[in-house]
Amino acid sequence: MKRKRTAEEEAISFYQTSKKSSAGSTSSTTIEQQQQQKLQQQHSHIHIMSTTKSDIGLIGLAVMGQNLALNIAEKGFSISVYNRTYAKTVDTVKRAEQEGKGSFKLQGFEHIEPFVQSLSKPRKIIMLVQAGKPVDATIELLKNHLEDGDTIIDGGNEWFLETERRARDLASFDPSRNIHYMGMGVSGGEEGARHGPSLMPGGPIESYHAIEHILKKVAAQVDDGPCVTYIGPRGSGNYVKMIHNGIEYGDMQLIAEVYDLLKNVGGLSNEELQQVFTQWNQNELQSFLIEITSRIFAKRDEKDQSKFLVDQVLDKSGSKGTGKWTIQECAERSVPCPTIASALDARYMSSRRDERVAASKVLQGPSAVSGQVDKQALVNDLKNALYCAKICSYTQGMNVLREASNEFGWDLKLGEISRIWKGGCIIRAIFLDRIKAAYDKNKDLPSLLMDGEFAREIAERQESWRRIVTLAVSQGIPVPALSASLGYYDSYRRLRLPANLIQAQRDFFGAHTYQRVDDSNWFHSDWATPKL
Ligand SMILES: NC(=O)c1ccc[n+]([C@@H]2O[C@H](COP(=O)([O-])OP(=O)(O)OC[C@H]3O[C@@H](n4cnc5c(N)ncnc54)[C@H](OP(=O)(O)O)[C@@H]3O)[C@@H](O)[C@H]2O)c1
Repeated sequence: MKRKRTAEEEAISFYQTSKKSSAGSTSSTTIEQQQQQKLQQQHSHIHIMSTTKSDIGLIGLAVMGQNLALNIAEKGFSISVYNRTYAKTVDTVKRAEQEGKGSFKLQGFEHIEPFVQSLSKPRKIIMLVQAGKPVDATIELLKNHLEDGDTIIDGGNEWFLETERRARDLASFDPSRNIHYMGMGVSGGEEGARHGPSLMPGGPIESYHAIEHILKKVAAQVDDGPCVTYIGPRGSGNYVKMIHNGIEYGDMQLIAEVYDLLKNVGGLSNEELQQVFTQWNQNELQSFLIEITSRIFAKRDEKDQSKFLVDQVLDKSGSKGTGKWTIQECAERSVPCPTIASALDARYMSSRRDERVAASKVLQGPSAVSGQVDKQALVNDLKNALYCAKICSYTQGMNVLREASNEFGWDLKLGEISRIWKGGCIIRAIFLDRIKAAYDKNKDLPSLLMDGEFAREIAERQESWRRIVTLAVSQGIPVPALSASLGYYDSYRRLRLPANLIQAQRDFFGAHTYQRVDDSNWFHSDWATPKL
C-alpha cells in the first residue's frame, strides 16, 4: 500500500517537482499541462520550511485571507495556508516570498490532509472563506482530520446564529474529540488584514487563550494596546462585527448627506470639499472615513484628467448584508436605530436608480431658494450636525450590543469594544476614545446621550444641527440620517411623546388596553361612546 506523504514531504516534493518540470518542459504539451507547469514554475518561489510544525493555519486566500496570512507571517509566526482553488495558494506563497524577502515562514498546501498535519497541536485554523455554504463545506473538509482540542476560527462576516449552530454541530459530530469553534469579526478590509485589523473573537475562552498571543501581534496597535479583546462566548464576535458594520453604514450615510449639502447648497468645488474634509480630520471628527473622503475628492478621472473621478461614479451604492442584519437585529431586540436604518434605506433607494430617474422628471420639489450661502457658516453648522448625528448613531449601535448581551448572557464590555475599534477598522476614529471614557465612567450607562460630556457637546451644537435639517428640508435635499438622528435625540429627551394617542387607537380597534398616567394597571375603554 502506498504511504501517504507527510506535510513536509508535500511541500518539499512539490518544490522538487516544480524544479524538474520547469527545467524539462517540452514543446508538445496540452493547455492543461501548460497551466500546471505555469503554476509549478510560480511555485518554485516557495519557501522551504524546516520540519517544525506551523503555529497556525489559514484557509481561504481571497482578499482577506491572503493579506491576513501575510500579516501573521510578518509578525514572525509560522503559518500553513490552503485554498480550494490552488492558484490562490501559489499566489500567496509567491507574495510571501516577495514581501518577506525569504523571511516569512509560510507554506502552501494543495491538499487538506497535509495542510492539517503541518500544524502544531492543538491546531488553530482560521477560515476566511465566503460566508454561508462555503463555511459549511470547509468544515466538512476539515473535521475528519481534526483532533481533541483543535479550534476552527471563522473570520468571515457570518450570521452569529450560524456560528452557534456550527459550534453545536462540531461538538455533537464527535463528542470525544472536543473540537472548538470560534467566530471572529475581522475589520479593516484588505489594508487592515495586511497591516493590522481590528479583531473581534468570540467563542470558548480557552480557545481564545490559545491564539491570544498571535492575535495581539497581528491586530492593529493603538496607544492603549492591540485592537483585539475577548468579546464573549458563542456568536458574540460575529455579532459585534455585524453591529460595527451597521455603525459604518450610519457614518458613511451621514458623511454622504453632508457632502450633498456642501456641494449642492454651498456650491463647494471638489478642491474646497477636499480642504473641508482635511480640516475636519484635524478635530473631533478625525477618523478613517473622513480621511478617505478628503482623498476621494482629490482623485482625478483616469479617462479624463480634467474631471474628478467621484463625479463619474454612478450614484448606486451596494451592500453585502451586514447592514440589513443589523437592522433585523435592532427590530428583534426592540432597540430603536433610526440612523442606521435610514442609512440602509438610503442604499436601497439609491439602487433603484431607474425609478428615480423616471420620478425626477415627474415629481416636484420646492422652488429653488435664491440668495448667497455663507459657505463658512454652512461648513461650521455641518461639522456640528455631523458630530451630533454621529453620537446618536453610535448610541444606537451600542444599545443593540447591550441588549443582545443581556439577552444572550454575553457580558459584553462596551468600553473595551470601543477601544478595539480605535485602530484597524473602517470606523476607527478619535471619537471612540470618548465612548470608551463614557463607559469607563459608568459601564451601565443606559445611553451615550446620558453621558455628561456627550450631553454637553450636543447641547452646544444642536442649533447648528437644527439649522441644517431645516435648510435641507426647505431645499428638498434628502438628509434621512441627519434628520432621523435629530428625531432620535428629540424623542429620547422628550418627557411626553404622542404615544398616548397610539395606545388609545390600539385600545379602540383592538382592545389592546392601556396604562393611565395615574395608575399602572391595565385598562380598556369603550372609545366609541364619548360619554359614560
Ligand atoms: N473583503 C473585505 O473587505 C472584507 C472585510 C471584512 C470581512 N470580510 C469577510 O471575510 C470573508 C472573506 O472575504 P474575502 O473578500 O476575502 O473573500 P470572499 O470573496 O468572500 O470569498 C472568497 C473565498 O471563499 C472561498 N470559497 C467560495 N466558495 C467556496 C466553497 N464552496 N468552498 C470552499 N471555499 C469557497 C474562495 O475559494 P476559491 O478561491 O476556491 O473560489 C475564496 O477563498 C467573508 O466572509 C467576508 O464577508 C471581507
